Amino acid sequence: MAHEEDALEHERASWKPSPGLAVAVPDPVHNPGLPPHRERITDKDPAAMQRAVRTVYTLFYLSLAGSIWAVAAYMLFPIESGQIVDIRHNNLFIGLGIALALLAIGIGAIHWSKAVMSDKEHIEPRHATRGRDVTREGAVAVFREANEESGFGRRTAIRGSLIAALVASVLPGITLFRGLAPESSPENPIAGDPVALLSHTMWKKGERLAHDPTGEPIRAADLTLGSAVHVIPQSLAELSHSDGYLEEKAKAIVLLMRMLPEQIVEAEDRKSWSYNGIVAYSKVCTHVGCPVALYEQQTHHLLCPCHQSQFDVTHGAAVIFGPAARPLPQLPITVDSEGYLVAQSDFTEPVGPSFWERH
Ligand code: FES
Repeated sequence: MAHEEDALEHERASWKPSPGLAVAVPDPVHNPGLPPHRERITDKDPAAMQRAVRTVYTLFYLSLAGSIWAVAAYMLFPIESGQIVDIRHNNLFIGLGIALALLAIGIGAIHWSKAVMSDKEHIEPRHATRGRDVTREGAVAVFREANEESGFGRRTAIRGSLIAALVASVLPGITLFRGLAPESSPENPIAGDPVALLSHTMWKKGERLAHDPTGEPIRAADLTLGSAVHVIPQSLAELSHSDGYLEEKAKAIVLLMRMLPEQIVEAEDRKSWSYNGIVAYSKVCTHVGCPVALYEQQTHHLLCPCHQSQFDVTHGAAVIFGPAARPLPQLPITVDSEGYLVAQSDFTEPVGPSFWERH
């Protein structure tokens, strides 16, 4: 403690205002120090300490049993039959084993640190963010010396070739990812062209909006005010996994919301894209593609849980917070002769995060 106080005093004594700071404030906040140390029951009672130690190793053994059970469950409940009941048992019992193993380790470690490990408070004085001049000069000198000795700045041929090699090193990865695009066929001519695949979804004129995952079409009259519904193209429900169900769903998934028509502020060229206060927006975040699934009924904001981008549904899903760089694409909708909600066309721009062909 004495050493820490000395360090704190030294910090105060050597404190200098930054150039340009008008008023010098040497000790603006009083240091309240540490609260009085409170002894734990395990510090005072050896029997309590023994009990705590027993609890900790029992939890660790329990974790061990959970891990062993998870491995045993993998063998006891094989999924090779493909029966849904076997898959459920397999997932359930492996999951229980892993959950027990992780939970018991976590609780055991916390109990160990709180009840058994020595209980001392420490203060680490906070240093000024700006390094001292001598430290900064030392860092610059190290970089200069490294530059000099490596010849990075001087040997332009080596530097240029290294930069070219680094840039080229990502090309194999891009090539492999391009190769993941499905083969083109007469039924699916855009397959094989990643740009076209990323630019288009299954939505087309007249395609009914349907509940995810049942594929049940949605009537405009059935949507209540304030509701938010996860929607897929109706014909998606007819696809099997081997036909690319998941790939198509990942692009075409939509959120449908209903509010009062007067709450929506629409751009002139989008006035016909909503129907009676019902709007449809891509659910794929324009940041890095997470599902934007949290709808705030009162504010009409959509929240992406990954990095907290927020979109204002009343203003064309414009970004109002977070790292997303552009609004969620809107799906133009209307109703058909039977009152079912249908798309007027595909999205008019690619959904999801930016990629190399975006304009
Ligand atoms: S993916 Fe939505 S904010 Fe990052």
